Amino acid sequence: MKQQIENVKKSILSFEAKTEKEVEDFRLRFLVKKGEVNSLFEEFKKLTKEEKRKAGSILNDLKNYANQKFKELNEGVVAKEEETKEGTDFSLPGSIVPQGSKHPLSIVQKKMIEIFERMGFNISLGPEVEDDWHNFSALNFPKNHPARDMQDTFFIEKEISLRTHTSSVQVRVMEENEPPIRTISPGRVYRNEAISARSNSFFHQIEGLYIDEGVSFADLKQTLFLFVQQFFGEKTEVRFRPSYFPFTEPSAEMDIFLGTETEEDYRLTKGTGWLEILGCGMVDVNVLENCGIDSKKYSGFAFGMGVERITMFQYGVKDIRTLFDNDKRFLEQFKLLN
Ligand code: PHE
Repeated sequence: MKQQIENVKKSILSFEAKTEKEVEDFRLRFLVKKGEVNSLFEEFKKLTKEEKRKAGSILNDLKNYANQKFKELNEGVVAKEEETKEGTDFSLPGSIVPQGSKHPLSIVQKKMIEIFERMGFNISLGPEVEDDWHNFSALNFPKNHPARDMQDTFFIEKEISLRTHTSSVQVRVMEENEPPIRTISPGRVYRNEAISARSNSFFHQIEGLYIDEGVSFADLKQTLFLFVQQFFGEKTEVRFRPSYFPFTEPSAEMDIFLGTETEEDYRLTKGTGWLEILGCGMVDVNVLENCGIDSKKYSGFAFGMGVERITMFQYGVKDIRTLFDNDKRFLEQFKLLN
């Protein structure tokens, strides 16, 4: 019996199959009911108990071996077929992935950042969930002062809120760095305002900060003027109006001149011809001191503007909410811009 098993094993071992038919031959010869392996099991039944004990396990091994070999032969043939299959035409054009478009806010934000980067500003980022110190107190908003109402705040806990402006990032930069500081802080900000065509509960700002020895209001004006020329065009006229912010003194707002010739410009400027685009001012001495900067040695300016407002003006978007709907029909209009 042992010899018979050895013989079958040898035949299995040396069996080669290159085609499906040959694999099938293997199956018919060894694995079917009347095949060589099963015949051995028939023989096995006739053995004595003692002999059975000896032959049992090697016979089982043989059966497993035959099955394993069949599997391998099969896989080998299938793999070969795939290799030689015709049909991979490398000259065919690839499948086309539909092209997306940049969001108009991203386009405008990028353009704004690039202008300030060319002037030597770096970019600073900070958390959207902010504590009272960075969003208010360090910026010279006294506790219970009505100035805090200028920015309706979403509170998370008593002293923790969603940031209402990215000035909070500038506090962090001042706390952590020695002047000279020249940085812009782009990012999303949140205000608890009624949602309408003109205002949303969140929007994006770019705020700038420049601190060094001898920085003056003239530097502020020149920096913003250069920005306006590069962003809106060489001939754009600007004007500064006095304003109030707790963290700057003196403070101003800057307008650009659109005129009232078109109906759209008349509407946007409420008939004045001037469109307000940003707030700015000289950093208040209290703010510098709060952030550990020697106000006798250093001075600086800050400014802040809304990305949505400028985007709406640039592309004639009439309702701020369309910027957040993610309606593809709206967004696809900006496909060719970048
Ligand atoms: N932080 C102000 C705002 O959110 C904008 C601003 C920044 C004004 C810097 C002056 C100076 O409205």
